[in-house]
Order: sequence, then C-alpha cells, then structure tokens
Amino acid sequence: MKAIVLSGGKGTRLRPITHTGAKQLVPVANKPILWYGIEAIAQAGITDIGIVISPETGEEVKAKTGNGDRFGVNITYILQEQPAGLAHAVKVAQPFLGDSPFVMYLGDNLVQSELGLFLEQFQAKGLDALTLLCSVPNPSAFGVATIDDAGRVLQLVEKPKVPPSNLALVGIYFFSNRIHHSIASIQPSARGELEITDAIQHLIDEQKLVEASQIHGWWLDTGKKDDLLEANCIILDTCLAAENLGEVDDRSRISGRVQIGAGSRVVNCTIRGPVTIGRDCHLENCFIGPYSSIADQAVLVDADLEHSVLLQGAKVVGIHQRIVDSVIGQRAHLSMAPQRPKALRFMIGDDCHIELT
Ligand code: TTP
Repeated sequence: MKAIVLSGGKGTRLRPITHTGAKQLVPVANKPILWYGIEAIAQAGITDIGIVISPETGEEVKAKTGNGDRFGVNITYILQEQPAGLAHAVKVAQPFLGDSPFVMYLGDNLVQSELGLFLEQFQAKGLDALTLLCSVPNPSAFGVATIDDAGRVLQLVEKPKVPPSNLALVGIYFFSNRIHHSIASIQPSARGELEITDAIQHLIDEQKLVEASQIHGWWLDTGKKDDLLEANCIILDTCLAAENLGEVDDRSRISGRVQIGAGSRVVNCTIRGPVTIGRDCHLENCFIGPYSSIADQAVLVDADLEHSVLLQGAKVVGIHQRIVDSVIGQRAHLSMAPQRPKALRFMIGDDCHIELT
C-alpha cells in the first residue's frame, strides 16, 4: 500500500496568504496542515508516500517537510507542472505508484478520523475504490455521493445545484490500480480539469466495486480564512498540551493550556489558553486570549489578540484594540502610534482584507 498527498493546486481561496506560500503549509496550531495528513497516513502503517507539488510552491513544501524522517516514512516528491485536476495528479504520480493500491489524501484537509479501519475495509473487501464521506449542511459546495443501503456508491456529482444527498466527499480516497485505466478513459471537465469524481464514476459504470464510508469526527476544508480559524480552534481544543520551554517573567499571568516554544520570551503578559506560541517569539505587555496561534519568531508588543493566527515572523506593536478573528501573514507588520493616530498609513498587498471596526 502506498499513499499520495496532493499539495499542488492554486490556493486561490486563501489569498493573499497563498500568494507567497503553499496553502498546505499554512499552520494550524503552529503545525502545517499538510503534516496532519502525513501523520494520519503514517499512523495507518503506510510508509511509502508521494507528495504531489507544484512548480510555484514545491520547493517550499520540500524544504519544510523533508524526506519523511521526522514522520518515520519515506517521502518522494512528484512534480505536477499544471494544476490540471485531482485525477491529473494521480496520472502524474503513476510512475511512483506502479501497480500498488494507494490512498489519496488532499493536502489541505483536516480530518479527525483514523485511517486504519477504512484501510482494513478497503483491503478485506477487495474494493477498487473507497471514498470517505461526511454529512454536511451545505453539500452544494462539494462533490456529493449517492449511496445505497449497503454503502455502494451509485453516483457522484461535483458541486450540484440540487444535491442528491448531504454526503460530501472528504478528500480521502482508497484506490486499486484500476483507477489508472479509468483516468485514461475520461476527458477534462467543463472547468478544464481531469476530475477524480469522473474517474470514480467510470469505475462505477464499469461495475467495479466502489464503496463509501462515513467519517464521524470533524472534517475541515481549510480553504478559507474562517475555516482556518475554526480548524485552529478545534485543534487547540483537542490536541494542545501545556508546555513551557521559553522564559516567562514574574509579572506575567498564564492560565489554561498554553504552549510556549524554546527561545521565546514573555514579559508582563496575560495569556489565557488554549494558546500556542512558537519558538523565538517576543511578547511584551500583551493580552493573548483563547484560540490564538502565534508562529515562530513573531513579535507582539503592547498588543491584544484573541482567536487569531499569526504566521512566522509577523510583528504587531502598539495595538490595544483587541485584534480578533484575524490571520496575519508571514513577516507582516502592524503598528500604531502611542497617541491616538491622526492618520492611518498602509502598505497593503494585493487581495488583503482589512477591517477597522
Ligand atoms: P482544491 O482545493 O480543489 O484546489 P486548489 O488548491 O487549486 O484551491 P482553490 O480552490 O483555493 O484555488 O485542491 C485540493 C487539494 O489538492 C489541494 O491540496 C491542492 C491539491 N491539488 C493538486 O495537488 N493538484 C491539482 O491539480 C489540484 C486541482 C489540486
């Protein structure tokens, strides 16, 4: 059994954050989204993993994720020149996959579900495809499946206006090598992509064994800002352990689960967990409220922040209006003069969203 994790694509929905970086590397609770998927695959006992990357962000994904040693797996990087669809990514990965069955995992998905039981089902029943589904309130935004009582997939449709069920395709699929023949048999869709749903539909039409199973934990597609903030909350709620590897002075008050990385200094701050602070950060005269994730080398001085994500090297100085529900990109600087400002001065990149409320 092998695995491929799709980490190419355009990431248009998370712009401007994804103008300069891969969306799969955006951190949730200070860990790249992509790594949660790799860990889930490793936990299911699969150690041969191909990561599909794009020319734009591939080097960054490689540099950050490495050869797999940190996860106890072997990682092979597979370049997809164009984001021409999920089935196209499988086609590009075929030399790596050979004839092996495999799991395909979308690198921007966060799923609370162990893969082991699904892998067992896929193998024990000798399936050609097993897709994972999650019941959602807004199925029109996703690929949607119709299944019979035995869990056989009858039909798949991409983003239907009138959804036939509320079962959305989570971005995790198990395939036998038959999928390659189906991919070779389909044409690009109206949006010009080779769709994995069309390839699975081809398997169904050829009477192959295609089943679906529902996951019961949460599933988050981290494509947009609010999804990302929600994912951050859930991970901080469920996975964060208190730990202090940094320096906290006597005037600081820390309550709840707070993780502070090595080399970070906290001076005269109030921090209410769950909060994670990376390495080599400097926090002084701040209030940091629940559900905040502050990445490595961030600087916060005279600032109040809550329910927000700060990326690596971001700097916030002199803002005591509480910053909430915000995502602040890598190396971004936000500052305010000590007196009430008479003017506002900005240098704002393309596609940014600023709300002075
Ligand atoms: P999507 O979210 O469907 O596409 P996208 O990354 O282009 O994002 P957006 O809608 O914000 O523009 O992709 C799901 C995952 O699969 C994501 O991790 C990117 C990856 N992917 C590839 O690796 N190759 C591809 O050709 C496509 C379409 C996606």
